[in-house]
Amino acid sequence: MGEIFDWIDNRFGIRQPHRKFLHRDIPEGVNYSFCLGGAALVCFIMLFLSGIMLSIYYVPSETEAFNSIVRINNEVRLGWFIRSFHKWSSNLLIISIILHTIRVFIYKAYRSPRELNWVAGSLTLVIVFASGFTGYLLPWDQKAYWATEVGTSMAKTIPIIGKYLLYLVRGGEDVTGTTLIRFYAMHIIYLPSCLFILLWAHFHMVRKQGIKGGL
Ligand code: HEM
Repeated sequence: MGEIFDWIDNRFGIRQPHRKFLHRDIPEGVNYSFCLGGAALVCFIMLFLSGIMLSIYYVPSETEAFNSIVRINNEVRLGWFIRSFHKWSSNLLIISIILHTIRVFIYKAYRSPRELNWVAGSLTLVIVFASGFTGYLLPWDQKAYWATEVGTSMAKTIPIIGKYLLYLVRGGEDVTGTTLIRFYAMHIIYLPSCLFILLWAHFHMVRKQGIKGGL
């Protein structure tokens, strides 16, 4: 096997780009808690892939959203599995991202020169929470409806812009089919696009600055 791999490597070049891309010197004091960012990335990839699969059968409309979820659960082959997979990876992402933030905070890795990466990370955190919130409405059942009703009504408490913000988020006075479509667009287009850009910036800075290392 080794000889075959060497033969291919000599002609195609696998080892060198692999080394260049993945091999980095690690400072002293690094331990398993430094894997939490990587764990969050794995969850994000699982979330993205299962989300693409769900979007094939999910119908974002006032009359069909709930039925399409029932269909995914009961009729689509392994639909229940993909749906649970999506839900679990979102929960695991939130847990790992919070633990990652705590790890970075304890190791004081937010200090110079990593301040901008802390800011990029904080924005990522907000967008991940917003993704969870917008995704919660999509099953379009009683729990989803009332959670969104209560959650969005908080926007109203913001002085001056509150009532405009509420109108913007809901697409009207109340939570309706328009809100569902708005949340769906946020959940599958706007928020993931922001996440991709932020994560790209995050990893670019991690690679440029390296890991901070022990306390
Ligand atoms: C989906 C979200 C996120 C992913 C996938 C992610 C991923 C990573 C990875 C793989 C690393 C390098 C290894 C490690 O330290 O674990 C890292 C480092 C870092 N992350 Fe994140 N991260 C996320 C969110 C955040 C958040 C919310 C913050 C802070 C508010 C943050 C701040 C940082 C900082 C400052 C570093 C550099 C740490 C050091 O040099 O020791 N990240 N991130």
